[in-house]
Amino acid sequence: MRYLQHTAIQNDSVDNVFLYREELKLIVETRDVGVHEGALTLPFVDSVSDIDRAKKYVGEVDAVFLVGIGGSSLGTEAVFQALKAQDANVTLTVFDTVSSDRIERAVRMLVRRNIPKEKIAIIIISKSGGTTETITNASVLSQALSSHYSADVKDRTLVITDQGSRLDTLSHEIGYEVFHLPHAIGGRFSVFSNVGLIPLALLGVDIAGVLRGAREAITSALADDSKDALDSVYALSLMSARGLTTLDTFVFDASLEAYAKWRRQLLAESLGKSNDMKGNAGMFGILPTVTTAGDLHSVAQLYLSGARGIHTDFITFNTYGSMPITGHPLLSIIPYLEGKTTDDILQALSAGVLEAYTDQQLSYAEYRLVSCSAYDIGALMAHNMFETICAAKLLKVNAFDQPNVELYKIKTKARLEREVTN
Ligand code: PA5
Repeated sequence: MRYLQHTAIQNDSVDNVFLYREELKLIVETRDVGVHEGALTLPFVDSVSDIDRAKKYVGEVDAVFLVGIGGSSLGTEAVFQALKAQDANVTLTVFDTVSSDRIERAVRMLVRRNIPKEKIAIIIISKSGGTTETITNASVLSQALSSHYSADVKDRTLVITDQGSRLDTLSHEIGYEVFHLPHAIGGRFSVFSNVGLIPLALLGVDIAGVLRGAREAITSALADDSKDALDSVYALSLMSARGLTTLDTFVFDASLEAYAKWRRQLLAESLGKSNDMKGNAGMFGILPTVTTAGDLHSVAQLYLSGARGIHTDFITFNTYGSMPITGHPLLSIIPYLEGKTTDDILQALSAGVLEAYTDQQLSYAEYRLVSCSAYDIGALMAHNMFETICAAKLLKVNAFDQPNVELYKIKTKARLEREVTN
């Protein structure tokens, strides 16, 4: 993976990140997962026994139902979609927000595909074990599935949560198969823990490849001579100071849309803070957005109009999937397409867009990956975690909490409790 910064960045005005990198190096070298930054250690930690236990418990499955929201599901979706695994025999359905419609559709899918109970796995993931949406979905989905099969589905249910959470205790009592994640690892940093690895393993994803990519990206980011990784840290931490208020992750391969949404959450929850670590008030963080190549016929007009305040990180590949474009009468409409491949078109599109951004003097950088492989997606996500953690350090904000999310949670809970008492 190469990080190419296309806009000049003065990085001598920021604190040095070298010392922090030494701290991170020690955490990874000692395989420490007892601190928040231990997220970077996870790809180096042996997770085989839990994965084997999960596989043994459910066997080969045709449908995985993942109940979890935010960091509990976005990483799995990102990897699964990137690897085009949706075409595989086993399907993934995610229940994040509350949706009776989605649950009804899941049951209809089971009927249509005639999937027996022993070919499904329900995975309930909640680090805190007390998220309203997850507990609601887990209860309603389990009941809908039990009623569909006229049999309890608890023997098809895995739970991943913090040891000692209410969900942990109750899951043991109910008889679910329970797994944990390290206490110090937050949801959005947990894709390389059981949270991401167990569902991805059941979905047949090459998790060894994902972890290899992650390990290599972290090793290279922590190396004394690492340049690309630090460049992206500086670029990210300096955006606000440069008057940039939006950070767009622009993916040319549509199968990276879920990845871009995972990164959006990582950036928003880690850097979007109203106070720094010393309690100083101010708005930190920039608005992360997601664009796919399909949006060239949508928001690109706005970007290329020269809209200021937006920085774009493009994710490009040396090779995209390739199919020949040849021999069809419609090609006479655009004759220069004849004989090209779909890869040629995407390469021309991405190069053309980047050239237009240069002409318009827009702020942008490029992550250039070899191909959309397990290795590359693992490396990219690990790098994103590294740059976010380091940028937070430079900005002096806490990357690992999300205090403001509590504001809506408290109000939602209060409303529901009021309704119970009334
Ligand atoms: O990254 C985070 O910490 C959050 O997005 C959480 O993952 C999300 O709020 C879900 O929380 P939980 O896993 O406790 O249900």
